[in-house]
Amino acid sequence: MSEIIRFGVSLEKDLLQRFDRLIREKRYTSRSEAIRDLIRQEMIKKEWEEGGQVAGAITFIYDHHKRNLLNRIMDLQHDYNKIIVSTQHIHLDHNNCLEVVAVRGTAGEVLELADALKALKGVRHGTLSMTGVEKDTG
Ligand code: NI
Repeated sequence: MSEIIRFGVSLEKDLLQRFDRLIREKRYTSRSEAIRDLIRQEMIKKEWEEGGQVAGAITFIYDHHKRNLLNRIMDLQHDYNKIIVSTQHIHLDHNNCLEVVAVRGTAGEVLELADALKALKGVRHGTLSMTGVEKDTG
C-alpha cells in the first residue's frame, strides 16, 4: 500500500454542508473516505473516455421458452467472444433463466454488448456493473 498523504481542502461553508449531507446519505464514515471515492470515480471515468480497460458483469433475466430469443442471446455472445470471460447460466424457475456475463475489454465494447443484450425483446432486468482495471504489465 502506498504512503498516505494528508492535505487541506478549502471550500465554501454552504458547499461543505451539502457535502456533509451527501456523506451521511451515502453512509461514508468520513470526509476522507468520500473524497477518495470521488477521486477514484473521476479517474475511472477519464480512463473510460480514453479507451481504458474495464472489467465487469452484465446480468439479465429472460424466458427460456422463447427459443428465438435464446438464439439471439447466443449469437450476440459469439459476436463479442473477445471481451466475454465467462457466462454463467442459472435456471431460476420453470420459465426464467438468469445469465451473468463476465466481461473484460474497453468501456466502449462492454457498453455496446450490454446495450445490445438489454435491447433484445424479452430480456428483463438487464444491468451492467463495471470498474476500471489497470493495464496488464506482466
Ligand atoms: Ni435456464
